[in-house]
Amino acid sequence: MTKDELKKAAGWAALKYIKSDTIIGVGTGSTTDHFIEALATIKNKIYGVVSSSEVSTAKLKNLGIFIFDLNDVNSLDIYVDGTDEININLQMIKGGGAALTREKVLASAASKFICIADQSKKVEILGNYPLPVEVIPMAYNFVARKLVQLTHGLPKYRKGVVTDNGNIILDIHNLKIIDAIALEKIINNIPGVVTVGLFARRPADIALISSEEGITILS
Ligand code: A5P
Repeated sequence: MTKDELKKAAGWAALKYIKSDTIIGVGTGSTTDHFIEALATIKNKIYGVVSSSEVSTAKLKNLGIFIFDLNDVNSLDIYVDGTDEININLQMIKGGGAALTREKVLASAASKFICIADQSKKVEILGNYPLPVEVIPMAYNFVARKLVQLTHGLPKYRKGVVTDNGNIILDIHNLKIIDAIALEKIINNIPGVVTVGLFARRPADIALISSEEGITILS
């Protein structure tokens, strides 16, 4: 199977977790794009979705799926999204697509977070994939210095990227994340940081991992 076929298998596997008459949180990325296509086949069964990015919103609208504003919604039954890395505790690095802030809001708002990924995303230790941090533009040099001091990693400015919230991304390279919850807290506390793409305090509840052998369910 190609990488894209594996992503498709994970995306479609999430469909059976969707309940009738609910509102679904939808993530961002190439694996989630497959989930969006799957969701379109049952769009009349659900009330609609809350989207985590302008890119996903455009795809959802194109397929005729109703979009809610999070401010108009009392509860999100499920949030479905991909990941850049996931460990055995279902903690993740996310934000490769720069949508980490809205993704984290939806993950926190949802009763259940289902992560969809091909097996290449499964890691023993998080940090090989550069850790994205969304930062307000006026603070990025200050935040970068703080990140070096506090994480001993190497923050790099992601060129040409402005987030949906008008901010910039610093990607921290050379990390080996042993205590993800502690690191998430440390980075969150730096003034100027909007969101760190470490999803450890609110990990996934279920991970659907695709491989040549089929789907493995981790929880
Ligand atoms: C988007 O900001 C990310 O968090 C994505 O969920 C992550 O990059 C996974 O993307 P793919 O499904 O394209 O690998």
